[in-house]
Amino acid sequence: KSLTIGLIPADGIGREVIPAARQVLEALSSDIMPARLNFVDLDAGFEYFQKHGVALPEQTLAALKGDCDGALFGAVSSPSHKVAGYSSPIVGLRKQMDLYANVRPVISGAAATASGQKRAIDMLIIRENTECLYIKEEELHEGADGKYAIAKRRISEFASRRAGEMAFSMALQRDLMRQKVAASERTWKGRPKVTIVHKSNVLSVTDGLWRETVRGVYAGNAKYREGVDVEEQLVDSMVYRMFREPQAFDVVVAPNMYGDIISDGAAALVGSLGLVPSANVGDRFVVGEPVHGSAPDIAGQNIANPIAAIRSAAMLLERTGYASAALAIYRAVDKVLEAGQTKTPDLGGKSTTSEVTEAVCRLL
Ligand code: NAI
Ligand code: MG
Repeated sequence: KSLTIGLIPADGIGREVIPAARQVLEALSSDIMPARLNFVDLDAGFEYFQKHGVALPEQTLAALKGDCDGALFGAVSSPSHKVAGYSSPIVGLRKQMDLYANVRPVISGAAATASGQKRAIDMLIIRENTECLYIKEEELHEGADGKYAIAKRRISEFASRRAGEMAFSMALQRDLMRQKVAASERTWKGRPKVTIVHKSNVLSVTDGLWRETVRGVYAGNAKYREGVDVEEQLVDSMVYRMFREPQAFDVVVAPNMYGDIISDGAAALVGSLGLVPSANVGDRFVVGEPVHGSAPDIAGQNIANPIAAIRSAAMLLERTGYASAALAIYRAVDKVLEAGQTKTPDLGGKSTTSEVTEAVCRLL
């Protein structure tokens, strides 16, 4: 058996953390990782665009669709101003590969406690990944009073239903995993819960459709009604509550942009963006991707925290059917964080990207 993984480091610290994740995957012994791993190096990103005029080359897409069972994406340095012909490759990738949900676990551990956080967080954010304002249909107009711009926001029943299904089924799945852990060690002690995030008091048509559709997924499935509680939270008070009582959340499901914003905020609660992984999930393909960006402020210095990328690699294994190998990586990372000696500067340490990566590898 073999598992072929496309590696797309793209820009900035993506080029440091993706090789780190590969190193960890290669350190897995054959008794916990029964399949042979093949890696395919693939191009994409803003720097690639500047050289070749395209950010997500056809060859990359063809390789992903043809040879790969999954992929790891680093980060892309998308400019804040409009650049003719440029479009973010990760947004394109999600669309092209139909990766309709972005699954983002935010879990506190030793690192959070060390940085003064005492509240345990065990949250799973499901971000709709294909539409909302990120369809990027923007128009600039010239009016009598000057320029104005309009952006379209697409919310569909189809996409909202898929995101909702993912949220409720993951809530049940997480509960099964938790039952394997002693009750005293569980962070979330209640029944599984899904919080639907929206702002339909203002955006009653778009967010209204989102809310109704996700609620409909729940109402239409007896398994969900029996096993999961459901609640709603307006996005602004969601942020407030998340900072006040993060332990109150289990699974959170949100439209694309709200989900993007909430997950960076949640990363602050566990100590660093450098710790939080994600998986872009579709029915046929999965792309692991750290939640952070290309971090130009620290790129090229070998000080980026590789843990978000390493955990994203573990999420990729979990999703492709190698749960024990994934678990081994999660445990090794937790041990390194708990020991507390090998930490990158974002966590208050002095270690390098390579040192943290090697510490994780040694435990495998
Ligand atoms: P960012 O996530 O790159 O950085 C925010 C802050 O967190 C910075 O201070 C950075 O040094 C720190 N940080 C991030 N990851 C870290 C890690 N692994 N270890 C240690 N510190 C880490 O967000 P920012 O600065 O807003 O954006 C920079 C660039 O990244 C932009 O061009 C943006 O478009 C792009 N970006 C790309 C994303 C993607 O590829 N999916 C997501 C978010 C931003
Ligand atoms: Mg983001």
